Order: sequence, then C-alpha cells, then structure tokens
Amino acid sequence: MKVIRDPGRLNKLLNGPRRSARSIGFVPTMGALHFGHLSLIKQARQDNKIVVVSIFVNPAQFGPKEDLNTYPCTLRNDFALCRKAGVDLVFLPDSKVMYLEGFSSFVNVEKLSDMLCGVTRPGHFRGVATVMAKLLNIVAPSVLYLGQKDAQQAVIIKKMVRDLNFPVKVKVMPTVREKSGLAMSSRNSYLNEGQKLKALVLSKALCLAKSLIDHGQRDASRIIQRMKELIGRKKQVIIDYIAIVDLEELKVIKKINRNCMICLAVKIGKVRLIDNAFIHKVADV
Ligand code: PAJ
Repeated sequence: MKVIRDPGRLNKLLNGPRRSARSIGFVPTMGALHFGHLSLIKQARQDNKIVVVSIFVNPAQFGPKEDLNTYPCTLRNDFALCRKAGVDLVFLPDSKVMYLEGFSSFVNVEKLSDMLCGVTRPGHFRGVATVMAKLLNIVAPSVLYLGQKDAQQAVIIKKMVRDLNFPVKVKVMPTVREKSGLAMSSRNSYLNEGQKLKALVLSKALCLAKSLIDHGQRDASRIIQRMKELIGRKKQVIIDYIAIVDLEELKVIKKINRNCMICLAVKIGKVRLIDNAFIHKVADV
C-alpha cells in the first residue's frame, strides 16, 4: 500500500491502470475510519482492480463554529485498516496543496444544498461538492463509493456527477450500524456513555416511523409528530429537523405513497448526529 500526498503524483501513478482499462474504485473519507468506511472499501475491493482511499479533513465543508480543529484523527489505525482491507493507494493531501493560495473556484449544487442539513450548515455542501469535484479530477476513478448514512450528501454528489458529466459510476452503500442500532460515525467518538445511550433515540425514532407505516399510517406529519414526541422525552436531545422526502429532489412529501426517505438530525450537547431510513413504496390504505 502506498501513501501519496501529492495530487499530481497520484494522478500520474493512476495513468497506467487508466490506460490499460483497469478499473479504479475510489472511497473518499475524512479519516477516523470505522466499519462504515470499511464496508465501502470492501465493496470497492470486490469490484475493482485498483482501490484508492482518500483521507482529507476538508476545511471547506466546515462552518466557522464547527469541529474542524477537533475532528478525530487516527491515522495509524486508518493505515492499518486500509492495509488489511487491501487498499492499493491512500491519498493524504495537505490542505495547503488542495486549496492553493488564492483558491476561488467552488462547485455549488443549487437547491439540494440549501435544504435539510443545508439549513443549519450553510456552505457545507458547497464545500463537499467542491472537494469531490477536485478529488474526482485527481483520481479519475471508474466507480465512486458513498454511504447512505450521509443521504443528502450522496444525492448532491450524484447530481453533481450528472450535471457536470464526471465519467464515473456512483455506488451508494447501506448504513452500517452498531449492534445497538446507532449509525456508525467518526463523530460518535465525541459522545460520552450517557450521550451514546441518548443517541439511540435516532434509530428508535426511525423504527417507530417504520412501524407506524407498517400499521397503515400514511400521513407524514403524524409520523413526524410521533417521532418528535419520542425524541422529546430524552432530555438534552435537541431536534434540528425531521423530514420525509422523495429520493431525488429531497422534496418534502405529505403522503407516504411512493419510495421515500425519513431523515433526521439532532444535537446532543455539541455533537450533531444524523440518520435516515428508506421507505419502499407501500400500498394505499
Ligand atoms: P466521512 O464522514 O469520513 O465519510 C466517508 C464516507 O463514508 C461517506 O460516503 C459516508 O457516507 C460513508 N459512511 C460514513 N459512515 C457510514 C456508515 N455508518 N455506514 C456506511 N457508510 C458510512 O462524508 C465524508 O467523509 C466527506 O463529506 C467526504 C465525502 C469525504 C468529502 O469530504
């Protein structure tokens, strides 16, 4: 496994596989790797000749009051996990190299970036889209692997790939969870034991919603109300949003009569957590 810091060198190294049409699977990350990341890496390993993982805590996607400076960094462990998973190349650029002095070109996927998480994190998805455009240009992979855990991010990146003609296939992998139901996230390491228990309310609220739908409830606002009541019983869990949206445009839907997604974001102390669940088309009642 090679660790490459220079974008130009990585791009050059990948010229060989590109020319001989060997497929390149790419998993972009911000490090502090866990089983969620590993599921993407494993899939990339299965599907491709070459696997590239990037580890880059992208300053452009953090707001001024967010956790850029405290974002968990476990590089040694990340390298060990990557090596064990059969990764060929780790791209570990410095932010000064990714954002050269005077950097002023940004990619903004309009509308989709301003809803859901975009409301409380203005500029976040512009930062994500910009770094993804850069990474896709540097790596030029055949397949890009993303996690369903960050559902809005996946929708936005897919839209950017389509709108800007990036020649890459995008695969979105299911959310990997702890046994408790908590969706794995690098930010879970910020939670103390008490907060971790409280955080279970996210997956519990999604289970409640699914069970209401199974029992015939089709009114989105009623489902959201019940989720709010459940979460409201947990002190110190502050709801940012709960929404039921369609899968392409993330538009709020009122009646559960097609494929859709329930997504929510909460804050526990200073830690912001998100989760979501797919609802497959259900019969009208
Ligand atoms: P990061 O949070 O490190 O996540 C990297 C990838 O792993 C994302 O595609 C994310 O959706 C996926 N992932 C995280 N937790 C997961 C889980 N529990 N199950 C399945 N997949 C999971 O997302 C980012 O980094 C950044 O925004 C990035 C795309 C790298 C751009 O900077």
